[in-house]
Amino acid sequence: MDQTIEGKIYLNGRFEEGCIGIKDGKITAIKKILKGDEHYSFSHQLILPAAIDLHVHFREPGFTYKEDFYTGSKAAAYGGISCFFDMPNTNPPTTHTNNVLEKIRYASKKSFVDYGIYAGIIDNNIDEAKKLSEYCNGFKIYLGDTTGSLQLDEQKLGDVLEEISSLNRPVLIHAESNKCLQQHRITEDNLQDHIRSRPAECEENAIRNILLSSKTTKKPLKIHICHLSSCEGFEILKKHPPNITIGVTPHHLLLNIEKISKRYQTHYKVNPPIRTNLDQETLWYGIQKGFIDILESDHAPHTLQDKEAEFMDAPAGVPGAETMLPLFLAEVKRNNLSLKKLVSMLCEKPADLTGVPKGRIEIGRDADLIIVDLKEEIKNIRAEHLHSKCGWTPFEGMKALFPKHLFVRGEIVIEDHALVGAPGHGKHIQPSQYIRM
Ligand code: NCD
Ligand code: ZN
Ligand code: ZN
Repeated sequence: MDQTIEGKIYLNGRFEEGCIGIKDGKITAIKKILKGDEHYSFSHQLILPAAIDLHVHFREPGFTYKEDFYTGSKAAAYGGISCFFDMPNTNPPTTHTNNVLEKIRYASKKSFVDYGIYAGIIDNNIDEAKKLSEYCNGFKIYLGDTTGSLQLDEQKLGDVLEEISSLNRPVLIHAESNKCLQQHRITEDNLQDHIRSRPAECEENAIRNILLSSKTTKKPLKIHICHLSSCEGFEILKKHPPNITIGVTPHHLLLNIEKISKRYQTHYKVNPPIRTNLDQETLWYGIQKGFIDILESDHAPHTLQDKEAEFMDAPAGVPGAETMLPLFLAEVKRNNLSLKKLVSMLCEKPADLTGVPKGRIEIGRDADLIIVDLKEEIKNIRAEHLHSKCGWTPFEGMKALFPKHLFVRGEIVIEDHALVGAPGHGKHIQPSQYIRM
């Protein structure tokens, strides 16, 4: 055995004291006592599966002044993420096979952690979907205009879902209806205007379209609705078929428009918008009741300079990969969320949706683990301590508990809150390595 890790292991929703044995990056044994070539003892500390971030924009290629795979994956590692999935709204966009392969090449040189790449499906590349599926880990569809302007005509959704349903890849959807967005377009001066120009009705309409369009595919297709933001969207999703999962972001869960200062309006401009206290409470209710499945960061870094434009010109999006797990570990420590729910939303369900052999401490899966010491003091988030290239955070001053160590396929990448891993350790998860479900 190459490594053994000892501590309180999270197994099937409970903690058991014992050891995890690792060979060639995989978990090969879980026993009371084991000793490998390299032994780590974490006595009273918790060993959890590392988090998976289903939704990041690491901006490479094209916008590497905002982020790249080096800084983005470093930030992810500090936040306990062993695997991220990158979105296609780069330049060039990830809409052709050569762009997917090019992106994998960039990430393979720079990433500290493992990754998957999504291909965008737009109006004119559906013929390439089969080829794309050989390399991409899933498809992304934008039903409404957002940063990067990749779009699919919303009327074509049913046909496209039918077309890709045989390809065995999940499809993630940005659910805002473009027709509705166009009807509400106004000149925006502040966040209230941003909500007016992107009302909940647009989310609701897009979700209705997804529910209807997905009903008719011959084969069931795994569909993930990204970043749910409103009561209205939640209401119609309360009863959704099991092939649809629902994602929510830290910013929609932890912030609301009433909390945001006048000074920082552009910073909190994001699509879909951060809405009211009531929307925020509804999303928490959805989590507690098990209607919402996955926590995803939608890490969308823009530099401070980009954000300091006039409201109308400022780009939409906020960073959040590094702070996601730590913010919610603090919620666990404050008894606002169970650890079981957090592991389900950040590890198990993202692994189930994407098929990657991670997300659970189980023989045969990758040894992607984090060590958490719940006795450590909760810290206030400070932008200067974070690692994204964008240099700011929408969660400044908020409470967080950072994981102490991170292992990616058995290799220690974060040790005692410090980076010890190497860029290039991260690997692309080939769709062929997927776990069959
Ligand atoms: C994202 C970005 O900047 O890439 N922006 C955002 O407001 N969420 C795009 C997106 O996910 O819609
Ligand atoms: Zn989006
Ligand atoms: Zn996004």
